[in-house]
Amino acid sequence: MSDAVPNSLSLPLLGGLRRLMPVPSMLEPQTPVPAHVAVSRTSRVLARAMRPGINLAIWLRDGVGGETARPLFDALPAERIGIDEHVHRVGRGVGAALLPQTMPAALRAVLAADIDRLALAYARATGKQDVRIKLNSCDGDECRIFHVDHIDIRFITTYTGPGTDWLENDAARREHLGGRGLSRKPTVDAINNAIVSDWTRIHRLPRFAVAAFRGSRPTIVSGKPVDETLAIVHRSPPIAGTGIRRLRLVVEGAGHDSGCSA
Ligand SMILES: [Fe+2]
Repeated sequence: MSDAVPNSLSLPLLGGLRRLMPVPSMLEPQTPVPAHVAVSRTSRVLARAMRPGINLAIWLRDGVGGETARPLFDALPAERIGIDEHVHRVGRGVGAALLPQTMPAALRAVLAADIDRLALAYARATGKQDVRIKLNSCDGDECRIFHVDHIDIRFITTYTGPGTDWLENDAARREHLGGRGLSRKPTVDAINNAIVSDWTRIHRLPRFAVAAFRGSRPTIVSGKPVDETLAIVHRSPPIAGTGIRRLRLVVEGAGHDSGCSA
């Protein structure tokens, strides 16, 4: 299979762009993939987020660590996991060094290997060896307002619970990001309704998919900004009060105040 998925490919290949909860819509079958998004079942697609005009690259994965690993994630202990570490040179063993010994051994091995895999993929795509790795579990909404990240490029994957919601470029009223242009204390819903012009064009990343998100800082290649590509607008899926817990991993460049890890 080629690295890139042509934009004419439709929902069955996307495989996991699911109906949103509680957003009432999804990509309908035969709906083309937006031109600012690249999707593939190979990891090489992640580097496409470095290209002009692409602000979201999605590597679709059915799981991590094989079929036997899925129940390990499902049985994840409820205690909060909160890892936020800088790694000054990515390589094998980075994940194992970050994860607590108290984590169930089999799950720890799978997660450690995936952290290594994604840190190396990030380094390959961006040329950065100095990275920040965050692994968090949560049962709240966190970044429920649609926003863009103040980073250049970030990888994110969700191991348990629903993935991040993202918005097609043409359905985003960017002038209202951050609540700009609204009343003094707008509600979350008011801000989201102002930003989203078409709620049928919000999509949810599938579980285990790895997404490369372009943020509002310019992506630098060989010392020069790639272009003025718009950042991808996204939010955390609303899960507060549902009993659902998410476990997600973020890999990004070190040195920035990175913003909301939706
Ligand atoms: Fe974010």
